[in-house]
Amino acid sequence: MASVQNAPQEPTAQQLSELKEKYTLAGQSQVFTFYDSLSSAEKAALYQQLSQFDPTYINTIAAKALAPPQAQDAAPSLEPLPDSARASIMDSAPADIDRWYSQGLDLIAANKVAVVLMAGGQGTRLGSSEPKGCFDIGLPSAKSLFQIQAERIRKVEQLAAKKAGTGAGVTVPWYVMTSGPTRGPTERFFKEHNYFGLKPENVFIFEQGVLPCISNDGKILLESKAKVAVAPDGNGGLYNALVEAKVLDDMKRRGIEHIHAYCVDNCLVKVADPVFIGFSASADVDIATKVVRKRNATESVGLIVSKNGRPDVVEYSEIDPQIAAEEDPQQPGVLKFRAANIVNHYYSFRFLESIPTWVKTLPHHVARKKIPYADLESGETIKPAKPNGIKLEQFVFDVFPKLELSKFACLEVRREDEFSPLKNARGTGEDDPDTSKHDIMAQGKRWLQAAGATVVSEDPNAGVEVSPLLSYGGEGLESVTGKTITAPTLLE
Ligand code: UTP
Repeated sequence: MASVQNAPQEPTAQQLSELKEKYTLAGQSQVFTFYDSLSSAEKAALYQQLSQFDPTYINTIAAKALAPPQAQDAAPSLEPLPDSARASIMDSAPADIDRWYSQGLDLIAANKVAVVLMAGGQGTRLGSSEPKGCFDIGLPSAKSLFQIQAERIRKVEQLAAKKAGTGAGVTVPWYVMTSGPTRGPTERFFKEHNYFGLKPENVFIFEQGVLPCISNDGKILLESKAKVAVAPDGNGGLYNALVEAKVLDDMKRRGIEHIHAYCVDNCLVKVADPVFIGFSASADVDIATKVVRKRNATESVGLIVSKNGRPDVVEYSEIDPQIAAEEDPQQPGVLKFRAANIVNHYYSFRFLESIPTWVKTLPHHVARKKIPYADLESGETIKPAKPNGIKLEQFVFDVFPKLELSKFACLEVRREDEFSPLKNARGTGEDDPDTSKHDIMAQGKRWLQAAGATVVSEDPNAGVEVSPLLSYGGEGLESVTGKTITAPTLLE
């Protein structure tokens, strides 16, 4: 997708004075401190940047984020989702799982399913200069996260076409959300790798919005004399971006009805998972979410719950430790509150069409950060040693409480099969490139063993990388039955 960018023009005196007045009325005139000393191109760029924002709205959302309204009742009523709104891969009847899989594949074959990837984060903890999706986690194939995900899409298209007997002609369009910092490198990476074998017209790279960074005393920060400090508006910026970037128009044109949305950093993600699509579509819900089982009472994960009768996410810090440790009366030994949020969602298209009616009501959250800023006396950019301001972020799951419980569902999946996030730099030992690689290769080994192969290795931890083009979820590996495979290795 080519993006045409015209160089911005310097504003007229009248345009400039109107914009200055807006910022002055909002108490944010400091953003013009260096304006008169800038070159013509810099003036034009700063004017364009400032015109994107409504400073009064920024003040309002910053004030709300910094002082969120206190809930009326101090202790909200928290319950696990009712049985009617949840299922688990672990204890569902195999016939149900087969039915969901089959329904999901039929919907994919009918070209009604699309995939949305959230890849606008800056990946600060991982510390790579490239977007996270370009990262090579160290597999024998050296495939990037983007490539693994693209190949899963290609495979699921093939599986659906095969089931429907349509030969070619199945398309799962891939909508890739990037942000200011990740868009350019993501587009380049896709082009350099020939869209990983997907058709470029079915890959739609778009950009989420940004918001100004705010100082601890509520002022919009300049990053340099000619530039406002900005940051992506959080993964909840997805909703606004789906409308603004005309993704929904494209989905409508293609007749999309079911959408799978996920995060770039989960190397085990089952992109466009037919089971999840079939489960969600047959329940006729507007949003569904996959969860994994919380490991123990103190694991620091967000939980999917019913809060005051609505689907919601509560952070681990919001749950009383005693309640967090309670056992499920129906399943002794299993936590009552165990549905760990992995930000892996299903949406009905009809629900996404309603975004404009509620998007302005999604709250913003405060992330306190070290934000490089221009000193208003000297104009020099200073890198602070401790947090000096806030970034405002929306969370993609803050939309859940907008739904009745009857329009929401939750599917528990196996962590070892579906969730291994890449968050930290190599060597951290947790959610890092080595754990990602290990989890993919351990899964490959399990698949081969289930298909009747014997896997031998000197290192008991050695696994097998199975190309997604060979198998999407462990199927189609009959050719290894009865064979001995020496790990570590790659099966293409
Ligand atoms: P994280 O919150 O883990 O952020 O994102 P991150 O950018 O990957 O890593 P850190 O916190 O800077 O180390 C979870 C998912 O949400 C996406 C990310 O790309 C990732 O898939 N995300 C996050 C966005 O798409 N946009 C954002 O503004 C923030």
